[in-house]
Amino acid sequence: MKRVLVVYYTQTGQQKEILDQILFPLEADPQVELTYHRIQPVSNYPFPWDGHSFFDAFPESFLQIPCPLQPIDDQILHTNYDLVILGYQVWYLSPSIPFNSFLNTKEAKRLLNDTPVITVINCRNMWVMAQEKVKSLLHGIGANHVGNVVLVDRHLNHVSVITIVHWMMTGRKDSYLGLFPKPGVSEKDISESRRFGEPIATHLKNNDYSTLQTSLVGLGAVLVKPLLVFTDKRANTLFAKWSQLIRSKGLPGEAARRPWLKAFNYYLLFAIWVLAPVVSLLFLILHLPFLSLIRKEKRYYQSVNFKTPR
Ligand SMILES: Cc1cc2nc3c(=O)[nH]c(=O)nc-3n(C[C@H](O)[C@H](O)[C@H](O)COP(=O)(O)O)c2cc1C
Repeated sequence: MKRVLVVYYTQTGQQKEILDQILFPLEADPQVELTYHRIQPVSNYPFPWDGHSFFDAFPESFLQIPCPLQPIDDQILHTNYDLVILGYQVWYLSPSIPFNSFLNTKEAKRLLNDTPVITVINCRNMWVMAQEKVKSLLHGIGANHVGNVVLVDRHLNHVSVITIVHWMMTGRKDSYLGLFPKPGVSEKDISESRRFGEPIATHLKNNDYSTLQTSLVGLGAVLVKPLLVFTDKRANTLFAKWSQLIRSKGLPGEAARRPWLKAFNYYLLFAIWVLAPVVSLLFLILHLPFLSLIRKEKRYYQSVNFKTPR
């Protein structure tokens, strides 16, 4: 019998829908016992969001400041698992606050240390630097990171910016104004993610994960877009300054940081609609001499290797 623990957070339910598909082959296998733990903040984040709370989550998301979580069942904490699957989403180019909070608990250390771990990411489209932050936390915990699957909204970056705001602010995963495509990961991509479960089941049974990520990448589990990586890195530098500035003005919910959150809101609109197109153009012009470096970087971000920062 192989014991698999699935730890995840979800607001809209999308993360769980994806996990259900990926885990289908394991769920159907009598030799595998699956246990689920849904991460629950003591004070949960709203869904749908309102404009203020959406931006108020920015400093603590980016600075990776944990929030208190509901306890994990004792039975889970007293079991040794053969594999742990972690489902998370990206908030402000970082792991979401609830998921980051989980990784910072002593219970996570207890569950993940010296244990094979597979990450499953769902987000709009910008996940690479968030995953580097997660890799760093997993490395610190002593987890054995053996696999990664990423599901994103595949529409054009600026189209998905519009449609995700509609989804997050109304709670409806439907077409904005009847004109735009549906937001989030497409139903087709969610249902087809079932194919990733087969190699996971095989490697679990063989108790050898050395080639799992290569198999997953071969099935299209991790598509890396160099332009998005470039934007993600630049935006991380700017977000670092904004998050420290806003946090220095007050804690979540405090009135003193409201005007600064408003300023960040306007800055973000400027960055998305003015800076990002300029950055894209620069990237398209300047990237050609760096093609081999970009390919190397792409392979690294598709892998579960972790380069400790120098
Ligand atoms: C506060 C907030 C910030 C977000 N920031 C990002 C981001 O930086 N990059 C990205 O690709 N998606 C971002 N998203 C989209 C989430 O990843 C999306 O909400 C998630 O895919 C929904 O999954 P869930 O309902 O299972 O949590 C953000 C969403 C929220 C609510």
